[in-house]
Amino acid sequence: MFTRESPSTGPGSPRVIGFYDDPTGSCQYVAACPATGKCAIIDPVQDFDPAAAHSGVETAQAILDRVRQEGLEVAWVLDTHPHADHLTAGRWLAEQTGAPHAIGARVTEIAALWRDYYNLPDAFDPAADFDRLFADGETFQVGEMDVRVMLSDGHTLGSITFVMGDAAFVHDTLMHVDVGTSRADFPGGSSADLYDSIQEILALPDTTRLFIGHDYPPVKDRKDPAWEATVAAHRAGNPHVGGGRSKAAFCTLRDDRDATLGLPDRMLHALQVNLRGGRLPPPEDDGHSYFKIPANRFGKEPR
Ligand SMILES: [Fe+2]
Repeated sequence: MFTRESPSTGPGSPRVIGFYDDPTGSCQYVAACPATGKCAIIDPVQDFDPAAAHSGVETAQAILDRVRQEGLEVAWVLDTHPHADHLTAGRWLAEQTGAPHAIGARVTEIAALWRDYYNLPDAFDPAADFDRLFADGETFQVGEMDVRVMLSDGHTLGSITFVMGDAAFVHDTLMHVDVGTSRADFPGGSSADLYDSIQEILALPDTTRLFIGHDYPPVKDRKDPAWEATVAAHRAGNPHVGGGRSKAAFCTLRDDRDATLGLPDRMLHALQVNLRGGRLPPPEDDGHSYFKIPANRFGKEPR
């Protein structure tokens, strides 16, 4: 797995190790307190082969191995939102480490949307399936580091950013500084809300290190995945929001681009796992789990 480190810049500033998941283009993070060795694991991926509906934990195990090699102690397992393109390994990591698994409180509204899409009126109980639901503005600790939760809706209606000292984990709001921004067309998404959330992120101090959720190289001359850039770099050079682009111009650009994108191949599997905190659907009387996939609710007619 491709990994890269970003050093702590001093007390209260996390050391960040990024782990890149090739099959989904996802960036996963370990953010560690330099004083105590306590860390958070952010947006870990559960392996999944959509053709076979087969899941695994090799990637999450590799992150855990690295955490243990480094002598770090996992204090939190965090998800920024219920992902559409990958299954979360949050529950598995919480079970392995004893750390609580948390997500944004508006996951309950996202669950309500998807209960309808799946026609599963009694499914999903995020208050039970996660150990903590964070409201906008809540704070918590990773070792001696203060973490602030910031609602960053737009990509989903309940996405959150974790602001940790001079770092912020912004997941699917911005893409890398040479790419632009994330899509806003999933159920509950909104390009106008995404613009407002990005402005709030870009109002953080100029030197804040922003860590994003996805990268899909190659990009221009760049072959390797990349995921870290400062607020100042995005304000100056991000092709979607840099240079002071207006909200109206951004929404046109974002909505036009989203209209050309196909759905992630794991979306209909992922949401029914991620809204259960990373658990597969409950086993049936033969002991197996089964996914429920709605026909003709999404996508275009096949040609
Ligand atoms: Fe996402």
